[in-house]
Formats: sequence, structure tokens, C-alpha cells
Amino acid sequence: MQEILEKLEQKRAEARAGGGQHRIEAQHGRGKLTARERIELLLDPDSFEEYDMFVEHRCTDFGMQDQKYPGDGVVTGSGTINGRLVFVFSQDFTVFGGSLSETHAEKIAKIMDMAIKVGAPVIGLNDSGGARIQEGVASLAGYAEVFQRNIEASGVIPQISVIMGPCAGGAVYSPAMTDFIFMVEDTSYMFVTGPEVVKTVTNEVVTQEELGGASTHTSKSGVADNAFENDVVTLHQVRRFFDFLPLNNREKPPVRPSYDDPDRLDMSLDTLVPANPNKPYDMLELIEKVVDEGDFFELQPNFAKNIIIGFGRIEGQTVGVVANQPMVLAGCLDINASRKAARFVRFCDCFNIPILTFVDVPGFLPGTAQELNGIIKHGAKLLFAFGEATVPKITVITRKAYGGAYDVMSSKHLRGDLNYAWPTAEIAVMGPKGAVEIIFRADINDPEKIEQKTREYTEKFANPFVAASRGFIDEVIMPHSTRRRVARGLRLLKNKELKNPWKKHDNLPL
Ligand code: HXC
Repeated sequence: MQEILEKLEQKRAEARAGGGQHRIEAQHGRGKLTARERIELLLDPDSFEEYDMFVEHRCTDFGMQDQKYPGDGVVTGSGTINGRLVFVFSQDFTVFGGSLSETHAEKIAKIMDMAIKVGAPVIGLNDSGGARIQEGVASLAGYAEVFQRNIEASGVIPQISVIMGPCAGGAVYSPAMTDFIFMVEDTSYMFVTGPEVVKTVTNEVVTQEELGGASTHTSKSGVADNAFENDVVTLHQVRRFFDFLPLNNREKPPVRPSYDDPDRLDMSLDTLVPANPNKPYDMLELIEKVVDEGDFFELQPNFAKNIIIGFGRIEGQTVGVVANQPMVLAGCLDINASRKAARFVRFCDCFNIPILTFVDVPGFLPGTAQELNGIIKHGAKLLFAFGEATVPKITVITRKAYGGAYDVMSSKHLRGDLNYAWPTAEIAVMGPKGAVEIIFRADINDPEKIEQKTREYTEKFANPFVAASRGFIDEVIMPHSTRRRVARGLRLLKNKELKNPWKKHDNLPL
């Protein structure tokens, strides 16, 4: 018996050795942790239950029958993060570059099936050279099996991808269909085809970093939600992020004990909006002063900075925050901002997370660059997302809410549940100057008349009271009491029920 037990231990040790000591050293030499070290940092101590440790590939071409590694380049299983269940796969770059074989895919598919069944999120730690080249179409089939599960799990369980090495070809499409993507600075890349193929096909010379590094995807393409400086910090941040999410779409958002008084007033908010309507202020300051303990997990902080998205908590309960940022492009909505916020709003709606919207928006960004690239369709995504969302929706207009952008930003008309405005709010079709220049075009050469009309327009429309008199704004509130109002509102809306008409699914403008 003892011998049998020892044999098992020996087999386990072989599997844990991955692609061998020299490849592990090479992995460390690049500043990267191994697949197992990563799992250890991600999960609670001793919580990891591994499956399929002895699975091997079935390929017999190109001498592969003589190169077998138990586990076949991916470590899979379940564990907990702060006591809450999660399924994990972690690709092992030391085994065939973490490339995906048929059996490697079967292992991932198995934990995804289990995660869907029991209602727990999946976190993928990706470090892969893409399809296992020696396996040909069997590997492509494996990818498609994973893709299909990503699609079926979408909106049922949260899916998080962490990119921790090169991810090429098929290795980027599975993450692309998950809810959130985090990258590691300087050691992770995502591209459909690498620099060499790019050079052959288009003659462009480009580095891996320029083509698909963390800076590219967090600031230019918007593919990734954030990047952190190394494996350790990234995994720590993923743990922090996980705490904001429910385990599945049938759960309420998690609540964790909070010692921050929900009635806390913040007098400094009364002077946040400058007297000059053209002067910007930092919307992040408002968010941090409203959420519990100032703890806000911002997503995509370096992409489409004119809109802010992220998670915070009020009375311990997760809320999704969407806010125009007047510091960038005056807080205008453009293509990137609309795409960024729309996907976030839809995530919150899938997973029962209330949406808190702060509005200071002068409108959609004008220009040929926007129109020719389809701002009509992209802007409509955000409009659609807010309008279809049935979770509790609280909106606070701090300053400008002009034109179509007023409608879009979770207005009363899109089933906003509680719509508040600060006394500094200006709710109108457009700003006073632009409005007067259109209505009184004939008097454009009479500066005195224009000034007088601008004053009149400002007095009449540059305030929240016209909208409040129609009931489009439920209440004009003191800035310092924003947190208290939002907390009460969320309490009130706790058991909100609202259903959209039956449909197979909607046809979001893509
Ligand atoms: C089999 C692979 C592999 C792959 C890497 N390896 N990629 N084995 N299939 N796709 C192996 C290498 O042979 C090597 O083995 C080890 O992994 C480490 O690779 P290196 O090249 O030494 O590492 P590095 O220099 O860091 O480069 C990493 C890399 C590069 C950028 C990922 O290996 C690379 O470009 N690989 C190919 C990427 C690719 O074109 N994949 C197919 C995409 S097509 P040894 O034994 O030396 O340690 C695809 C189709 C799916 O994915 C589409 C679905 C929609």
C-alpha cells in the first residue's frame, strides 16, 4: 500500500515540475511566475482543488509521442478567494509554450462546464503561444469548444481573463469574450497575428509591445481593462476586484461589512463645481467621496478618459459607477466613451449590480472623425444599454446635461429610478452661447443683443428647475448630501422588480 501511495506522490511531483527546471528558470528569468505559483497567489491558502493533473495529449505527429507532460500545459481546478468559490485555469508556458492542444482545451472546458452548473466565476490565467501547431485542426476544434463555453457562460457567471505572457492567435479570442481582461505590464501581449506575420503581410515593422503590449491595450485599443506592474500585483488586484462581483446572475451583488456612515455628509462637495461653467473639475473626487471608504476600483482608467467606469460600494453593497469626466474633452461622449460605458452598464445589468450615474456632459463630440467612424451606432450602444437595464438606477446631474447626451445618461425617460440634480445643474438642449447663436442668427452682429439673449437663456434654462418642474428630476439635492441620498435610494430600490418584454435576445446596435 505504502508503495502505491508513494507512486502517486511521485506522479504528482512529476506533474508539478511542468516543462522542467530549466524552463521554469527561464520563466522566472523573464520576471514571470509559473502557472502553479500564480494559482497560489490568486487563491486562499490551501483552497485549491486540482483536476486532471495526469491528462496527456494524444498527438503522435512530429515526434510528439515522445514528449508528454502530465497536465498538458494547463493547471485547472477550483478554490476560493476570500472564502468565495471560483474556478481557475492557469496555462503553463513551460510546457509547449502553454499552447492549446485538444486535451488542454478539454481540461478548460471541463471546469467551465462545472462553473456554469454550480454558478461560480471562472478566472483564466493566460500565457500561451496559441493553437498547438503540431496538432493542427484538433487544436482549432479545442479552441472553438472553449469559445462556445465562453458564449454560453456570458451573463450567467462572471468571466475574468488575466493575460500573463504572450497570447497569440486563438489565445486572444477566448479572453475577448470574457467580461474583464487584466494584463501584466512589459511581460504580456495580445495579438491575433504577431509582428513577424504583420511584417510579411503588410510590410509594417512593429514591436510586440507596440502591437499588443499592456500600454497599447489599456490606452489605445481599449481591449484590456487595466494593467499592473508584475504578476504579484496583478493577482493581488484580481483578488480585490473579485470581491465586488456576485458569483452568478441569480445572486444579489455581494455585501461586505462597512464602517463608513451612509449618512456621512461631505461639505467640500458644495464647492466642487467651479463658478465658471467652462472650468473643469475632477469627477473622480466626487466618486471617491461618495463610495464607502473612498474605495473605487476604476476600470479602463487610461482609455476614453472622458468617461469613468468602475465599482464601489454603498453600505457595503457593490454599485457600478458611470460618470462623465469634465477634465477630458469636457466630458463629451464619443465613440470610445460610449463603447466603454455601454459594455460596463450591460455587465452590471447582467449581474444585478445597481448603477450609479454622475452626469456632466456637454453633448456628443462633433466632427468628421466621429461621424465617419460611426458615432451614431456606437453612441446608440450606451443609450440602448442604459435603457434596457432593469437594475436599480440612480442618476445625479452635477452640471451640464445637454441634448441627446442628457437622454442617454440614465435619464428619467430611460427608466431612471431616482434622478437627482445638484443646484448647479444645467439641463437644456445645448449650452446658452450655442443656443442663442442659432436662435438669434440674424442678430449675430449685434453683440449687445446676443449678450442679453444669452443672459435670458441662461436664466431660463441653465438650471435644474425646468426639468424638476416636469418631474424629470425627482429632487434638487445639496451636493454635500449626495452619499446620504444615494444610500437611501439604494435601500429603497433593494427589491425593485422590472422585466423587459419577452424576447429571444435583443439586437443591440453593434
Ligand atoms: C507548439 C509552441 C507554440 C505553439 C510556442 N511553442 N508556441 N509549441 N505550438 N503554438 C513552444 C516553442 O516551440 C518552445 O518550445 C516553447 O513553446 C517556448 O517558445 P519560444 O518561442 O522559445 O518562446 P518566446 O521566444 O518567448 O516566444 C513565445 C511566442 C512564440 C511569441 C508565443 O513561441 C510564438 O510566436 N509562437 C507561435 C505563435 C503562433 O503563431 N501560434 C499559433 C497561432 S494560430 P521549447 O521546446 O523550445 O521550449 C492560432 C489559431 C487559432 O492560434 C485560431 C482560433 C480562432
